[in-house]
Amino acid sequence: MTAVGEIRGTTIDRRSVISLLRRLRSDEGQANPLPLWAKLRALGDVVPAPWGGYLVTGFEACSQVLRGRNWLVPDFAWQERHPDNQRWRAVATREMTRTLPRLNGTAHTCQRRALGNPFDRRTLEALGPLIAAQTSPLLDDLEARLRTHGEADFVRTVSEWLPVRTAGQWLDIPAEHHAYMLDFTHRQVYAQELLPTRSELAISAEATLEMRSFFTALVRRRRAHPGEDALTGWIHYFDALYPDDRATADRELYALTMFVAMASLETTATLLTSAVWLITQGPATLDRLRRHPEHIDDAVEEVMRYDPPVHLNTRVAADDTVLAGVPIARDTMVHVLYGAANHDPRRNEDPHVFDVLRNGSHLTFGGGAHYCLGAALARLEVKVLLTLLLERFPTLRPTAPPTYAAGRMVFRRITSLKVTT
Ligand code: HEM
Repeated sequence: MTAVGEIRGTTIDRRSVISLLRRLRSDEGQANPLPLWAKLRALGDVVPAPWGGYLVTGFEACSQVLRGRNWLVPDFAWQERHPDNQRWRAVATREMTRTLPRLNGTAHTCQRRALGNPFDRRTLEALGPLIAAQTSPLLDDLEARLRTHGEADFVRTVSEWLPVRTAGQWLDIPAEHHAYMLDFTHRQVYAQELLPTRSELAISAEATLEMRSFFTALVRRRRAHPGEDALTGWIHYFDALYPDDRATADRELYALTMFVAMASLETTATLLTSAVWLITQGPATLDRLRRHPEHIDDAVEEVMRYDPPVHLNTRVAADDTVLAGVPIARDTMVHVLYGAANHDPRRNEDPHVFDVLRNGSHLTFGGGAHYCLGAALARLEVKVLLTLLLERFPTLRPTAPPTYAAGRMVFRRITSLKVTT
């Protein structure tokens, strides 16, 4: 047995951690990670990762890392101190290191200020009917497919499209570009996985170049033809911040626009599909929501707790520290496991039970300085979708379990959910 760490007197076997991580990446783990998260949690709140650093499994420990000031994200400065790591030199990884979730300190504050609070109460009130207007034609399409074939793929018909239609409306990106945006997002995401292979990094590199030229051209066009959209507002913000340096303003604008568009697509699509899958698992849940649509908000929170679309996030220790009793040296990387945390029985009793009235806790949108800026928008999209779906398709049900993209440890992706009425 090769021990990778001693925690609270327990020697953790490296091979059992590797085996659990392999199983998490397998089809079995993608379909049902719950028992594997429980096994990882049983090893400790802070489990040595086989490649160095730690996996953080318990709710409190994850929350401390996300919210604590003594934790940073692995930015360029950190990466330069670890030049041996091939992964950080990949073009696709470097591109993402220029974006919000990989910035610390003033660079982060500057981008975050440009966004402000993009989805405050007033904006959300205005967005609700617009999202409903985007949802209706997608549900018309679903209805037509169900009528013709008796069955339809909810992902391809509805979930993939609603987030890109919404982001498109927010940033004023015409519908004819939406399919391409989805395509390069799905290819780029590999670089953001935990341990991407060389060939995945190559796919991601190509997608990155396409994404770069797409969003650079978008910013250029918007500068020439400003509108009333969010991107026009960011152009005003960065032009005022860098009045004599258009190149820097454009670099910042590109990083921001690219990231917020990408951040909102796979994540929200997965959440929408999970919501449909989970609420249709028992007649009692569906019946309750049909009769009490006021519980849809509770259902949305429970879906997010039960199956978070992002499974893992990374921080590094700013100084020598101690986490859940484990000494951690400065610069050490830790990986927060959102799903394991949300299913920690010390925080949410009987965590494996999907209960829309649970009023549980979750870390699905992260925490602290990097807390997700699109959380309110994502919640609203699910709420609008479920409301309209329950009205128009009260007997909708899956004909088979969902299928998942293979090998994901960071961004979960549901590739298909066949439904009928
Ligand atoms: C279900 C959908 C979504 C999920 C599960 C999700 C999850 C997350 C998570 C886990 C983080 C990292 C938080 C941390 O490091 O503490 C994050 C960051 C972020 N998300 Fe989301 N997100 C979703 C949708 C969106 C949408 C719709 C947008 C934009 C409209 C968005 C914009 C962002 C931005 C800008 C950040 C970076 C914040 C920063 O680093 O300061 N997200 N999101």
